[in-house]
Amino acid sequence: MSNFESVFTLEATQLKFGAGAAEELGWELKRFNLKSVILVTDPALHAYGLIERIEGLIAKAGVSFHRFEDIRVEPTIESLQKAVDFCVEHPADGFVALGGGSTMDTAKVSNLITVHGGQIMDYVNAPIGGGKKPPGPLKPLICLPTTSGSGSEATTVAILDIPDLHVKTGISHRFMRAALAIVDPELARSTPAGVTASAGLDVLCHAIESYISLPYDKRPKPASPDERPPYQGSNPVADIWSLKAIEFGGQFLERAVKDGNDVEARGTMMLGATMAGIGFGTAGVHIPHSLAYPIAGIKHSYHAPGYSRNYGFVPHGYSVIVTSPAAFRYTYDSYPDKHILAAELLRGHKIENPGPESLPSAIIDMMKAVGSPSGIAELGYDEADFPAIIEGALKQQRLLAGAPKPVNAKVLETILQQSLKNW
Ligand SMILES: [Fe+2]
Repeated sequence: MSNFESVFTLEATQLKFGAGAAEELGWELKRFNLKSVILVTDPALHAYGLIERIEGLIAKAGVSFHRFEDIRVEPTIESLQKAVDFCVEHPADGFVALGGGSTMDTAKVSNLITVHGGQIMDYVNAPIGGGKKPPGPLKPLICLPTTSGSGSEATTVAILDIPDLHVKTGISHRFMRAALAIVDPELARSTPAGVTASAGLDVLCHAIESYISLPYDKRPKPASPDERPPYQGSNPVADIWSLKAIEFGGQFLERAVKDGNDVEARGTMMLGATMAGIGFGTAGVHIPHSLAYPIAGIKHSYHAPGYSRNYGFVPHGYSVIVTSPAAFRYTYDSYPDKHILAAELLRGHKIENPGPESLPSAIIDMMKAVGSPSGIAELGYDEADFPAIIEGALKQQRLLAGAPKPVNAKVLETILQQSLKNW
């Protein structure tokens, strides 16, 4: 036997998709035999009557609930701890999360700590946290995403911001996976254009990074199945999900941003987000996401259009997309054909004389089309910040191990240099 991995796994979240799917929440609560739940949600959704609607469905099913809505976009230990404290005070059989990635991740962490106890940092990925594995399954969590981005409804990961360390990191384990994702395009109708843009660019990065990640069979064989990481590298099954998500992004993202009532476009982007979540939940993201964590974590001066928050922050999708053109320029020669196919799916047509710039330029055109910031300069960074960003990114070895080429500080510096302004 070689020392290379020879096995990959597919573990996917149960999915219920379609316009009107949310109406079946009551039936699903009964299916999971839930008598009481914590509804974790985003207060911004009051404006659209969504919270009241979902609460009506829960109540109609005869399920009692308590609502927690003190959500922070890009959760911190403090904001998560508030949620945990609330859930400890209000014991329930399970969780319903209604909102975007931050909401779903808050629900995942609340579920973990209320079931197994301990401190949040115990479970955060090493070396930043203790890297402790959840000792057993959690309570059922039903996710109803209202944006089409994080794919959190389909993954085993919860992401959190640790401002003191200027870094974002996560908790990842198969027990963190939601029991069910109900993806209903009608829930996304009211999402502001800026949120749809950032979230959709995140979807593209999930899918493209996963598709060109270091293949599973080019990675070291784990000592035991228990040591096999959730992010296993590209493989024939993950690739199917990733490629379809890239194609959907190319076809529908711009339309979804420009017209909130384009239910076909928003719906397909939601499905694409979940599909990319299944792809990256198995294959894994790497360079742009490793840089995105310090980019979102170090400075909080950017105010993104469309996000109704009184504090500055870099929406996750923007923090990821800004370095992706340079990252894929760097990785091009590892798998040129894969980069070109991704570019063609994004463009929706064959590219004449493709090359290293095909994918970066396809991404940049998409960024322009949906109103993305042009680079890290617009997010408040200059060259003096590079060492801190690089240091933060190098802490994400769990992610960087998935890059199709080795990544060191010098490589990251070049990528950052090229990412100050993409146009
Ligand atoms: Fe992401």
